[in-house]
Amino acid sequence: MKNVALLISGGGSNMVALARDMTGDHPGRPKLVLSNVPQAGGLLKASALRIPTAVVDHRDHVGRLSFEDAINAELTAAKIDVICLAGFMRILTSEFTHRWQGRMLNIHPSLLPKYKGLHTHARALEAGDTEHGASVHLVTGDLDDGPVLGQARLSVRADDSAASLAERLLPLEHRLYPAVLRRFLTDDPTPVLIDARD
Ligand code: GRF
Repeated sequence: MKNVALLISGGGSNMVALARDMTGDHPGRPKLVLSNVPQAGGLLKASALRIPTAVVDHRDHVGRLSFEDAINAELTAAKIDVICLAGFMRILTSEFTHRWQGRMLNIHPSLLPKYKGLHTHARALEAGDTEHGASVHLVTGDLDDGPVLGQARLSVRADDSAASLAERLLPLEHRLYPAVLRRFLTDDPTPVLIDARD
C-alpha cells in the first residue's frame, strides 16, 4: 500500500476526486493533504474526508529551499511514497523535483506539450484551438514538462470563455487524475486517454 500526499493551493476538487478513489483494492491511500495557503478551501474538504492536513506557508520562509525543507519534513513524518500535485501553485526547485523524481505527478490544464505555464484556457482560445484538455504528467525539473501519463480532451465551443472552458474541463480532470494514479501505482504504463469531444 502506497502512502500518497496531495499538495494543493486552492479548492482541492482534484484532491477530493483522488482521495475518494483511493479505497478498496486501490494500491494507494491519501495520508496527507498539504497546502502552502492557510485558507485553502481544500483543507476543509480534506478534514471532512478525515485526511490529515498540514500547512507550509511559503510566506513564512525566506527562499525556496527553506520552504521545501519544511514540506519534506511533513512528507517524511507522514511516510509519504508518492506526491500528487493538485492545483499546487508554487514552482518547485530542481532539488525537490530531483528528490521526488519518478514519484511525483501533476495535473496541468492543457494538452501538453502545448501551453506550459499559466492561463492555459485563455491561450487556447486566443490561438483558436478547436480542442483543449488536461494532462497528468510526471514532474521533472522543467515546468510542466515531464512524461505525460494521461490526457483528457474536449471540444472548444464558439461561445466558450476561459471560465466556461475551465468549468467544462474540471469534471474530466476528476476522471483523468484518479485513473492515471491507479495505473501509475500498479506500474501499468498504458496512457489514460479520455476523449470527450463533441
Ligand atoms: C485545475 O484547473 C487544475 O487543472 C489546475 O488547477 C486547478 C485545480 O483545481 N492544476 P482544484 O484546486 O483541484 O479544484
